[in-house]
Amino acid sequence: MSKTITIDGKEIPYEDGQTIMDAAIAADIYIPHLCHDPDYEPHGSCKLCTVNVNGRNCSACTFPALEGQNIINQSADLEQDRKRITQMLFVEGNHFCPSCEKTGDCQLQGVAYYLDMHDNHFPHFFANREMDASHPDILIDHNRCIFCNLCVRASQEKDHKNVFAISGRGMNKHLIVNSITGKLKDSNIHINDHAAHICPTGAILIKRTGYKVPIGERTYDKQKIDAVALAKENKHHGR
Ligand code: SF4
Ligand code: FES
Repeated sequence: MSKTITIDGKEIPYEDGQTIMDAAIAADIYIPHLCHDPDYEPHGSCKLCTVNVNGRNCSACTFPALEGQNIINQSADLEQDRKRITQMLFVEGNHFCPSCEKTGDCQLQGVAYYLDMHDNHFPHFFANREMDASHPDILIDHNRCIFCNLCVRASQEKDHKNVFAISGRGMNKHLIVNSITGKLKDSNIHINDHAAHICPTGAILIKRTGYKVPIGERTYDKQKIDAVALAKENKHHGR
């Protein structure tokens, strides 16, 4: 008999070694997330996937599924917490969606749509972060980095290169490039690397690909992020 957990009153099966996120995705239950990607080790940094497990809040992407868990994923409190987390991500960077090439394909924007976020609630930081357009094929706009660590993990785990790292804490946290000058052009990143294509926001972009797909016909212009994420992640697991 398979083991089960309960999410929002629905009993779902899980296998040993699965996280709550893994079990939820397999059962077609969407838990909002930004730093989770089934291709990479869980990182637990964005906290958007916070669920309530037997009365305690924890990150679904890192917390193991265990027998007897009664999990709340959808509640007014959790929705509010997720909206506030997303608003903080927006004000901490400079996300001018209408002028960003990633608009319509951006997961941060997609989550904001999903959470029905209509304003930023908090005062903007207006951080002054420089762009790195030094590489012939790849651009970094540090203003849009949400420190999800996906490019770091992709570069380490798939490309075996260690091109990226996150340095500093709090307001001083920033993405750094492993090269003698700190510039992308002097790193060994290549346009075909996984790290160049994993960014959920418009922080890492491929040059000369802008507006190939018109605004209005992009991923989250057509479908909500829950449907896109569940389809993509279940496909990854061969389901
Ligand atoms: S550049 Fe993109 S992938 Fe890398 S940490 Fe920032 S948001 Fe995440
Ligand atoms: S998706 Fe779980 S903490 Fe980011």
